[in-house]
Amino acid sequence: MKKVLVLYYSQSGQLKSVMDEIVAPLSRCDNVQCDYLKIEPETVYPYPWPFYAFFNVFPEAVYLDGCPVKPLEAEEDYDLIILGYTSWFLSPSIPITGFLQSGQAEKLFKNKPVVTVIACRDMWLMAQEKMKKLLAGLGAHLVDNVVLTDQGKSLYTFVTTPRWMLTGKKDAFWFFPRAGVHKEEISASSRFGERLCNALQHDEERSNLPLLKNMGAVNVNGKLIATEHIAHRSFLIWSKLIKKAGPQYSKGRNVVITIYAFFLLTLVLTVVPLNMLIRKLISPFRKKALDKAVRYYEQPSGR
Ligand SMILES: Cc1cc2nc3c(=O)[nH]c(=O)nc-3n(C[C@H](O)[C@H](O)[C@H](O)COP(=O)(O)O)c2cc1C
Repeated sequence: MKKVLVLYYSQSGQLKSVMDEIVAPLSRCDNVQCDYLKIEPETVYPYPWPFYAFFNVFPEAVYLDGCPVKPLEAEEDYDLIILGYTSWFLSPSIPITGFLQSGQAEKLFKNKPVVTVIACRDMWLMAQEKMKKLLAGLGAHLVDNVVLTDQGKSLYTFVTTPRWMLTGKKDAFWFFPRAGVHKEEISASSRFGERLCNALQHDEERSNLPLLKNMGAVNVNGKLIATEHIAHRSFLIWSKLIKKAGPQYSKGRNVVITIYAFFLLTLVLTVVPLNMLIRKLISPFRKKALDKAVRYYEQPSGR
């Protein structure tokens, strides 16, 4: 009997619906026991998010200050672990970080093959770089990464995703598409569960090599690589400033958050379009370097 542990943290239930699709074939799989568990922070995060609550978690997310999480009712010695997480400010969500920093994760993940599953707006590259380090610190082997991103162009999701997070509204409006990952893409995630079931039947997980190659597990948007690098650098600086201004929800912190929100809006309306234009103009000269970066971020599963 093979044992698979599936873990996730989802607020609105979107990531859970992706995990449900992956878990369904695994729970029907012969000689496979699939334990499907939710990571729960000791203090619940709000959803939808009040504006200041949303930005109050920014520095902690960026600096990987995980929160305390409830212990899981998991067994020991799994053959494969599937970890579903969302990206918060270009970092794994705080409850996921908190769990990966716990003593229980240390025991569960040591020497285990891990498949990460991400469902987010469209900026996950830096989060996955941080995830790689967290997993390596636990002695785990990242064998695959599955990524689903919100429907619509980046320019649209810059509006639709925050609107959804701050109000709970996902519907299409004006010329904006519905928020979140497309339903069809979520349903199609069952193919990963089917493939993993097959791999487990043939002991393939023991090789610590990718199991989900040539399945469209990831699709890196090359145009976003530089944006993520720049944004992450600025996130590190602003997070430090916000942290210095005071503890979570303090007056001092909220003042700096207000300044930051205005700064961010100005940046998005001015520097971001300019940066996009410049990148478009120089992209033919940087094609080789960009292709290399795309291939790197698509690892280990590839397209
Ligand atoms: C505090 C916060 C920060 C977020 N930051 C990002 C981000 O940096 N990149 C991204 O692609 N999505 C970001 N998102 C969207 C989430 O990754 C995810 O799509 C959304 O929270 C829905 O997931 P869930 O309801 O399944 O938890 C953020 C969401 C929250 C709540």
